Amino acid sequence: MTRTYAVWNEAGGVGKTTTAVSLAMVGAIRGLNTMLVDLDPRAASTKWIGAYPEAEGMHVGAILADPSPEGWADELALPTSWHENLRILPSDRTVAHREAEKPDGGEVRLRAALQGTTADLVIIDAPNRQGGLLPMNALMAADAVIYAATASEDGVDGIDGASETLAAFAQSQKLRGSTFIPQELGAIMTAISDTIVPKVERRSLAYVRENNLALTPFVPKREAVRQSRVRGEWYGLDYYDRADVVVNAYKQLLDTILERTANHG
Ligand SMILES: Nc1ncnc2c1ncn2[C@@H]1O[C@H](COP(=O)(O)OP(=O)(O)OP(=O)(O)O)[C@@H](O)[C@H]1O
Ligand SMILES: [Mg+2]
Repeated sequence: MTRTYAVWNEAGGVGKTTTAVSLAMVGAIRGLNTMLVDLDPRAASTKWIGAYPEAEGMHVGAILADPSPEGWADELALPTSWHENLRILPSDRTVAHREAEKPDGGEVRLRAALQGTTADLVIIDAPNRQGGLLPMNALMAADAVIYAATASEDGVDGIDGASETLAAFAQSQKLRGSTFIPQELGAIMTAISDTIVPKVERRSLAYVRENNLALTPFVPKREAVRQSRVRGEWYGLDYYDRADVVVNAYKQLLDTILERTANHG
């Protein structure tokens, strides 16, 4: 059985890519055949992992451009140097052109491409959009949505926006008689200070807790996470010893997520 999760927030720079890449990598480490889908034209996860297609156009944009892409995800996904269980379906800046075209039925293409995939775990790095082709492809393909957010006004505001868009999507799916409605799993709170917690962070964390959205543990802030990105490396490598706590937080979060989706429906 394949489980597919979209990592999303309508706001930018709030930890979506870090969370998507981290959940995918800890999934691979725990032995799951994992595919990371980069659905962001800025291609941050593709660049971080450093996997590039051999031929031009062999990226997620090919799926979005084709009316009949059944089973293409496995064909386009690339192996990574990070882990033998981790593949990535890369993105490219030209994916932005697909957004402008708005083809009829275009929002089901990623779902079709993932049909019959050999992956146990699929993690989608969704871009910071308020609806439109890319988030709709993520919502159509996902069993569950996970928000990622920093404990900031932007982060929390972006969760609220995404949650409203998800509710509107669920409503229109019901009207269509469709049962493809992803579960709203909650929010992974990223880059949290673990020494002196600033007031805005405390307020933001209280807000997601009150709304019953907080997934735990919170992910601590570590400079190594940022550095490893610049170097194109996984921050779980031995010499990033201070980032151990971040790896462990994402491992626990993945356990929680898998458990919650197993009990759903
Ligand atoms: N736990 C952490 N500790 C330290 N820095 C972090 C942590 N998580 C994320 N960051 C940093 O925060 C910045 C934004 O994170 P990220 O790129 O994951 O956000 P995003 O929501 O995907 O952004 P975008 O909207 O541009 O796609 C990056 O520089 C990243 O390295
Ligand atoms: Mg990103």
